[in-house]
Amino acid sequence: MSTASAERAASAAARAAGTEANVLVRMTGSGEPEQHIVRAGGPRPTAGKGKVVVEVQAAGVSYAEVQMLQHLHPFPPKFPFVPGYDLVGTITEVGPGVTGWKKGDRIAAMPRQGAWQRYVELPAKTLAAVPAELDAAVAVSLVTNGVTAYQMLHRLTKLAPGRTVLVHGASGGVGALLTQLAVHHGLRVIGTASPAKHDTVREFGAEPLDYRTPDLVQAVRRLAPRGVDAVFDHIGGSGLDAAWKVLVEGGTLVSFDSSVAGYRPGQWFRPHVPALRRTVARWFTRHLGLTGGRRMTMYYVKPGPDFNADYTELCRLTAEGVLRPQIAGRHPLSGAAAAVRALLDGATVGKHVLIP
Ligand SMILES: NC(=O)c1ccc[n+]([C@@H]2O[C@H](COP(=O)([O-])OP(=O)(O)OC[C@H]3O[C@@H](n4cnc5c(N)ncnc54)[C@H](OP(=O)(O)O)[C@@H]3O)[C@@H](O)[C@H]2O)c1
Repeated sequence: MSTASAERAASAAARAAGTEANVLVRMTGSGEPEQHIVRAGGPRPTAGKGKVVVEVQAAGVSYAEVQMLQHLHPFPPKFPFVPGYDLVGTITEVGPGVTGWKKGDRIAAMPRQGAWQRYVELPAKTLAAVPAELDAAVAVSLVTNGVTAYQMLHRLTKLAPGRTVLVHGASGGVGALLTQLAVHHGLRVIGTASPAKHDTVREFGAEPLDYRTPDLVQAVRRLAPRGVDAVFDHIGGSGLDAAWKVLVEGGTLVSFDSSVAGYRPGQWFRPHVPALRRTVARWFTRHLGLTGGRRMTMYYVKPGPDFNADYTELCRLTAEGVLRPQIAGRHPLSGAAAAVRALLDGATVGKHVLIP
């Protein structure tokens, strides 16, 4: 027997016996993924008080890891750490004091880091249930991206059908789901994307627009002369002023990141200053009655009862075929650097997922 097949046989036997060691991915510093994203071994966790151990079936690769790698994340962890914003898996061990969950239950979670490993210990109170029949990669694409899209649409802006919205990055992980949800809700969607992805945006039922269009305000007004009822923006910087200008009276600008404008390595907070400044200024001017009822708000996804309820609804909409989450690539843990590289290159549509 070769060394590789002996290792595989030993790993399968250990997995069956429940004694398998952990396999994980570490981010060791900022720079290129090929240099700083490494696969390693480690001890398998045990479940502490109020916690469970989960065997990961799929872990998401997200823009947050790109930002962490480039030292551009607003809440940067200290290197080295195990990245991985969200995951879907099966509970293998339940710690003392845990109620409502048992071994074998299928769950989703958004620990923000630590998902890129085979076994992970998680607080039981942060878990959401996942239907048995849903593909693990699809299920994980609905966790952070799906709940973000759902909550911005249905908990923040709460628009009635028939209204018009502008979704930036309509071909991206969040934007694609937001666009599909909005179209399903009966909204007209103008979705920005690079021209190569305009057909994808059309397939979602939206009207594509190149985000590099020199005068975005004019371009939006040509499509929607009275303006739009909401803008969903992850770009930040001065683009927020263009977004504000295309809003109708009473419209809402949702800023959910500042991922493009003004980024310099090491200055992880500076890109967010323009969004914060504008949000505070517009809060005051709105309360002085000077914004025509327009408002600007910032959004950040967090676990909790709303998260769980909205995730359940997203699973239902997917099972019914309303949502069609796209999976750009399924990678083993050893392919984590390649998955981040693919996200950085921006050529793919849909979610990159690690399958431990
Ligand atoms: N606030 C929260 O709670 C929260 C939660 C989840 C995600 N996020 C943030 O949301 C953002 C999107 O995440 P994601 O996972 O959807 O990333 P993604 O899959 O990489 O998508 C990014 C999208 O942005 C588009 N884009 C690039 N440059 C642009 C520009 N100048 N103007 C408009 N669009 C542009 C891309 O279009 P092309 O590919 O066509 O170039 C792509 O569709 C990230 O910044 C992430 O950190 C925030």
